[in-house]
This record gives sequence, C-alpha cells and structure tokens, in this order.
Amino acid sequence: NYYAVIMAGGIGSRFWPVSRTAMPKQFIDIAGTGMSLIQATYERFKSIVPAQNIYILTNDKYKDLVGEQLKGIQEHQILCEPVMRNTAPCIAYACHKISELNPSASIVVAPSDHLILNSVQFSKDVTNALQTAETNPCLITLGIQPSRPDTGYGYIRFNEQNLGEGFKKVAQFTEKPDKERAQSFINSGDYLWNAGIFIWSAAEVLKAFESQLPEMNELFLQGRNVYNTDGEAAFLKDNYPNCENISIDYGIMEKAQNVYVLPVEFGWSDLGTWASLYSLASKDEDQNVVIPSGGTILTETTGCMINIPEGKKLIVKGLNDYIIAESNDTIMIIPRESEQEVKQIVAEVKTKF
Ligand code: GDD
Ligand code: MG
Repeated sequence: NYYAVIMAGGIGSRFWPVSRTAMPKQFIDIAGTGMSLIQATYERFKSIVPAQNIYILTNDKYKDLVGEQLKGIQEHQILCEPVMRNTAPCIAYACHKISELNPSASIVVAPSDHLILNSVQFSKDVTNALQTAETNPCLITLGIQPSRPDTGYGYIRFNEQNLGEGFKKVAQFTEKPDKERAQSFINSGDYLWNAGIFIWSAAEVLKAFESQLPEMNELFLQGRNVYNTDGEAAFLKDNYPNCENISIDYGIMEKAQNVYVLPVEFGWSDLGTWASLYSLASKDEDQNVVIPSGGTILTETTGCMINIPEGKKLIVKGLNDYIIAESNDTIMIIPRESEQEVKQIVAEVKTKF
C-alpha cells in the first residue's frame, strides 16, 4: 500500500548557467555523485516502496528526459502536467489518481532535486512515517535542524504532544518568512526547517484538500472517472490550467490542524543555491569544491565553488571565495556572497543576449 510521488517540474534557476529551462538541475549530476539528482531520488525510493508504485510528476516537456534517465520506469508512471501551477495542484492530481487505484494507499511526496547523504537513515525515517500515516489520521512532514535565517524555507514550531516514536505535533507552520521573522525563529531555537518531504494516507490528504482548497479538490474529483484511462490527458489539458497557482505549503500545511513533524538527520541539502552545494560538498585542502573533480590547476586559490563541463580545463591563480560555473555557451564568475543575485543575473542575460 506504499506509494512515492517525486515532483520534478521545477526549473532550478538559481543554479544557472548549469541548470536551465531546457535542462533543470534535477536532471543534472550537480553534486558530482555519478547520478543526476532525480536518478538518486528514484533509487532511494526503490528501496522503500515497490518500483511500480513510484510516480514522477513533471511537465509535458520533460517527459522524454525522465524516461531516458530512469531505467525501468513505465510510461504510465510519468504524470505530465500541461502547465506549471506549483505544488498543490500536482499533489492533488497525483493523490486523487493513486487513491482511485488504491484507496488505502499511504504516499510519500518528495522533491526530485535534493541531496541526501545518508540514504539508509532516510529509508528508515520515511518507512517509519509511512507506517505511522497508515494508522493515524495525520499529515507528516520531515524537519531539519536549521543553521541560518534562510527565507526560502518553511519553519515549523512543534509542541510536546507526541504521536508514536519521534513524531511531534506541529503548533505553527510558517512558509518563507521575511528576514526578520526568520532571524527571530532561529534565535528562539524552537523551530525546524520543513524539508519539503510529506507523508500521508491518500484519505487524509484528500480530506485536507477538501477543507483547505475545496475548488481545486472539486476539479480533481471530477476527473476520477478518467484517471488511469485514455481520457486522462485530455481531461488534464482542459482542466489543469484552471487550478489556482499555489504551493502545498501555503495551500495546506500552514492551515491544517493535524500536522506532525519527524525531526530527521540524514545529511540533507535542498541544493537551493551554489553556496548550499558548496557547504555540503567535500573540499580540497584549500577549501575549494571542484565538480567534476580533475581538470583544474588552482594556485593561491581558496574557497571557490567550481563547476565546469567534463573534459574542460581551468587554470586559476589568486582567486578567493568565488563561484565559477560554465555550461554550453556561458561562463559565470561571481563572488560566492553574491549567489542570491543569480536569479537577477539570469533575467538580465535574457534581455541582453
Ligand atoms: N511537477 C511539478 N510541478 N513539480 C514542481 C512544480 C510544479 O508545478 N513546482 C515545483 N515543483 C517541484 C520542484 O522541482 C521541487 O522539486 C519541489 O517541487 C519543491 O518546489 P520548490 O519550488 O523547490 O519549493 P521551495 O524550495 O521554494 O520550498 C519548498 O521546499 C523547501 C525545502 O527545500 C517548501 O516545501 C518549503 O517549506 C521547504 O522548506
Ligand atoms: Mg526547492
């Protein structure tokens, strides 16, 4: 009764120029592990749920890429959205579809673009959560010990009310607070980051959609007679664009009353930016990260995050704390501390060239 849904529709714009709309970061081996992020995610879930119960949620335009990268995946396991409407609609769609196949399903929903170092621990935690969600009316999320007042995450405060082993009742879920609030959450020491990995029974998550996003729920309810038939794609094409554009975090998690968090430690990074990759990756004696390794001569160069195409050579002298990233026709060299500007840089590049 266990299912996994992997969300792979994002475009990863802060990892430009390596991650692009035509080749977003989930399809790239951005961390230099020998597998793309989505391949690593798929492998992790194969040890938790039966392979035929894994679904990939993506955009029509990435369907072929998913099929090429995930060996053994069947076409019907790749669910394609005709347009992007953020995570709430794609999760509503997948959970309605799975519940139609198996009303007693328990489902883990996860991003395709995270780096997880300890997959054995990951597997234990997710299995524990699936078992708990199967027998308790709750929505579960995984919580990470925060390290900085990052405004790109959901923040979770929990109370001491427990559910089974390790699960804490969520008292407050705040998605993407401003800098000031994020800082006060960090100072208080009472908050976890939301890892963006959710576990629930099909029945429980559909109840949450019914009460928090009733219109969206109604839309996908209407499709229930066509899911898993030839009419599915046409139904989506006609109806999916009408969904509200909202994430699951704002749409459900901030408002639901029966949310529990499992604090986890499995070496997690959401690889949101070059600096997040830098902080988790292994470094040479001068604190440089070079992916893929080899191909460089670095002299008097420290603290750099370097990502160049396989086979390229790079010679650098006297550079400290920079990001050097190259892909296709573009090389970007910026201070590591300016990494938040990558989104603006991409916008500028689009108008200039
Ligand atoms: N299929 C599909 N369709 N996937 C999507 C879509 C969509 O329309 N939009 C986003 N995704 C995928 C992304 O590719 C990513 O894998 C995942 O869904 C999460 O979306 P993000 O856009 O990366 O969310 P976020 O990083 O801003 O915030 C979420 O993750 C944080 C942890 O990394 C939230 O859950 C936060 O609360 C959380 O802290
Ligand atoms: Mg993200």
